[in-house]
Amino acid sequence: MKKHHLRIPGPTEVPEKVLSAMHTSMLNHRGEEFIQLFKEVSEGIKEVFQTKNDVLIFPSAGTGVMEAAIVNLFSPKDRIVSFPNGVFSERFAQIAESFGAIVERIPVEWGQAVSPEIVRERLAKDKKHEIKGILFTHNETSTGVLNDVKALRDAMEDHPAVTVVDAISSLGAVDLKTDEWNLDIVVTGSQKALMLPPGLGFVSISPKAWARIEQSRMPKYYWDFKAAKKSLEKGQTPYTPAVSLVFALKQSLELIKKEGLTNIFQRHITISRALRAGIKALGMKLFVDERWASPTVTSIDIMGYEALNLSKLLKNKFNITVAGGQEKLKNKILRIGHLGYVDEMDIICILAGLEMVLEDPNLYGKGVKEAELYFERGEKSR
Ligand SMILES: Cc1ncc(COP(=O)(O)O)c(C=O)c1O
Repeated sequence: MKKHHLRIPGPTEVPEKVLSAMHTSMLNHRGEEFIQLFKEVSEGIKEVFQTKNDVLIFPSAGTGVMEAAIVNLFSPKDRIVSFPNGVFSERFAQIAESFGAIVERIPVEWGQAVSPEIVRERLAKDKKHEIKGILFTHNETSTGVLNDVKALRDAMEDHPAVTVVDAISSLGAVDLKTDEWNLDIVVTGSQKALMLPPGLGFVSISPKAWARIEQSRMPKYYWDFKAAKKSLEKGQTPYTPAVSLVFALKQSLELIKKEGLTNIFQRHITISRALRAGIKALGMKLFVDERWASPTVTSIDIMGYEALNLSKLLKNKFNITVAGGQEKLKNKILRIGHLGYVDEMDIICILAGLEMVLEDPNLYGKGVKEAELYFERGEKSR
């Protein structure tokens, strides 16, 4: 028997308390008990988004609410600018294109962050305000890059384009101040930092976004935000909600509240720094520069380790599951997810696992030691 260690950037491990909440009999989703519960979680999730805006909850994958944001905000032929620097930011651009938007891509090298300067430069040229929307990806999970969304939004200055943010692998783990930073739409999914199984999509909508939604002409039915808002006012959803996941959400929100967002953000920063310190101590190369390194997913450059199939060895020897690279990064990087229900010992465990599959006894203990030292004094000495 080997205990499973799920170290991919989502779905993530789910706490016992959250899992057992789902083991509850169904109830009438139009009845008073569910209405009260749905009202409670719809309010509670706003704290995680750091917003007073409406937050809608859909039974959905993350990609579903990305599509929902596009089809509710825009009309065919609307001009949208995106800054793809990985698989998920590119996906956002593709979704907009597939509904007839004219998407201008300003590409950024994979593994690097989007710089506020390119945003400022592009929007400054748009004197006639032809650009209707800007797509940002807070945390580019395919590379392990955290984009500084606050700086990117500030660089837009008072351009009237709506700001749409994919925070699927960051919200609830990394600070994201929806209201303070003026983010019109923010989307996330349940299976990452919220410590839930996959199946819920969340979207926050600012008053400015609601005004745009009134003008939108892209086709939609299931995703219609106006219908969802109308139902939410009665504590309901237009169609059958994912009842079990809503039970679970109540529990995960309680856990988040108990720990406190500030502590949660710090926990992710600390463990990601310790992990990176440990990886470097093993002589391995990080794929992403420290300036942009994500607190939720860490990529290791595995060029040079081709002879060892590291992920397969981790899986076969220790039942540790890590993620590989996607698309052009296939077989080039290994990605370790550390978001949601994750702590110091998970980092020690993955580092120990890495040490033991590298097949060099001289490395035993080196990564672990570095991480331990970091936990011991790193944050204190900062
Ligand atoms: C940043 C980001 N965007 C979008 C997605 C897509 O989410 P889903 O697979 O739930 O559709 C993911 C999933 O990993 C992601 O990390």
